[in-house]
Amino acid sequence: MEPVRITVFDTTLRDGEQSPGCSMNVEEKLRLAQQLDRLGVDVIEAGFPISSEGDFKAVQAIANSVRRPIITALARTCREDIERAWEALRGATHPRIHIFLATSDIHLQYKLRISREQCLDQARSAIFLAKSLCDDVEFSPEDATRTDPEFLCQVIQAVVDAGATTVNIPDTVGFTTPAEFSGLIQTIRRKVDGIESATISVHCHNDLGMAVANSLAAIDAGARQVECTINGIGERAGNAALEEIVMAMRVRHDRYAYDSGVVSQQLFPTSQMLTEITKVAVQPNKAIIGRNAFAHEAGIHQDGVLKNPLTYEIMTPQSVGVPDNRLVLGKHSGRHALGLRCAELGFQFERRELDEVYRRFVILADKIKNVEDYHLLQLIRESRPQPARVPPSPAKTVPLALAASATAAYSTPECATLPTSFHTSNSSPATQGELLLHSPGEHHYEEDYLWGV
Ligand code: KIV
Ligand code: ZN
Repeated sequence: MEPVRITVFDTTLRDGEQSPGCSMNVEEKLRLAQQLDRLGVDVIEAGFPISSEGDFKAVQAIANSVRRPIITALARTCREDIERAWEALRGATHPRIHIFLATSDIHLQYKLRISREQCLDQARSAIFLAKSLCDDVEFSPEDATRTDPEFLCQVIQAVVDAGATTVNIPDTVGFTTPAEFSGLIQTIRRKVDGIESATISVHCHNDLGMAVANSLAAIDAGARQVECTINGIGERAGNAALEEIVMAMRVRHDRYAYDSGVVSQQLFPTSQMLTEITKVAVQPNKAIIGRNAFAHEAGIHQDGVLKNPLTYEIMTPQSVGVPDNRLVLGKHSGRHALGLRCAELGFQFERRELDEVYRRFVILADKIKNVEDYHLLQLIRESRPQPARVPPSPAKTVPLALAASATAAYSTPECATLPTSFHTSNSSPATQGELLLHSPGEHHYEEDYLWGV
């Protein structure tokens, strides 16, 4: 049987950006949107145009230049919001207006102070208005999982009848459970006439740590679009993590026979770019893209992995774009290795640009033991204020020196607290032992080693 294709809707630039410390400027949003395009997501939610002039400009810039995916923007049910969203989106090749309105009694009573009838009317009229501007219209009944299911089905019926093409079911406060959410999706499919004319989407928050499990349960129950964010960033405890959903469907394809258009090798570079832009570090043990996700500390585990990685690894680091962790960059490394690592991180440099990065690298490498990826990202930022990323090249094994431990050398929390310039750092010089680890004798790229030293 053909695997079912799931639409991946990325909301890093909208719901993700709403999380503390994650706001991005227009240039940063555009850069990340271009990377999301390379990642292969189907829909990019670029922002909430009515919320600020900056967000309007970011949505407009993305709509006018990122051509393959659907570009969507959020709006409340009022005319001003919808027209502003459309104004920002109108240059897109594939525009979508995304309208939301809370439907739970608790939100109607305390937040919106409207009746259920008024809620139904507002939802219906908003879809009519949006449809007069754009064919592709999504509706989200906010706080759906705490809404009376009967009323929820009435609202969904109204928006489907009005022409909504996607109906998104948000677990706004991260309250539901996999079995309950699966049941809700099945109820909607059973009770709403003509629901087949719309795509059912889900949007889960992680307050109880079940966002990914809830999303997968909903997909099993018939949802065909999943809304998620890179690194799982988002309001409060975050949204369902895109990388976890995609890799669960890939690694456990026997159980989740679904496909996505995501290029898994772009997961790590995308995560790194987001960390670099927001300076919000990823927890080291974060699934798929955390610093320790492929690191093995215990002797028994190291022994097993060295004999056969399958003993303790259910996917390869390369499959999610994690650079080969055996490539250790230190004071004896040459430009070839540096250029390769930069490419793995998503930066392809011309020779002259690499010269500048290398010049700074040598100064830093003279002061510290190993130059890790977060150091490199800072160096790159300093040498080229607004670097244009390209798809990273596949990780290669360069036998410069084998690290004593297989600990991965990528994204770390220190990223947020690095000094602005390495040149003034007072790191102590490497010890003799450290130098031995990277002695030139071990270097297999003699020419490269000499080039530029
Ligand atoms: O969590 C939520 O309910 C939302 C909606 C706007 C989709 O983010
Ligand atoms: Zn949300």
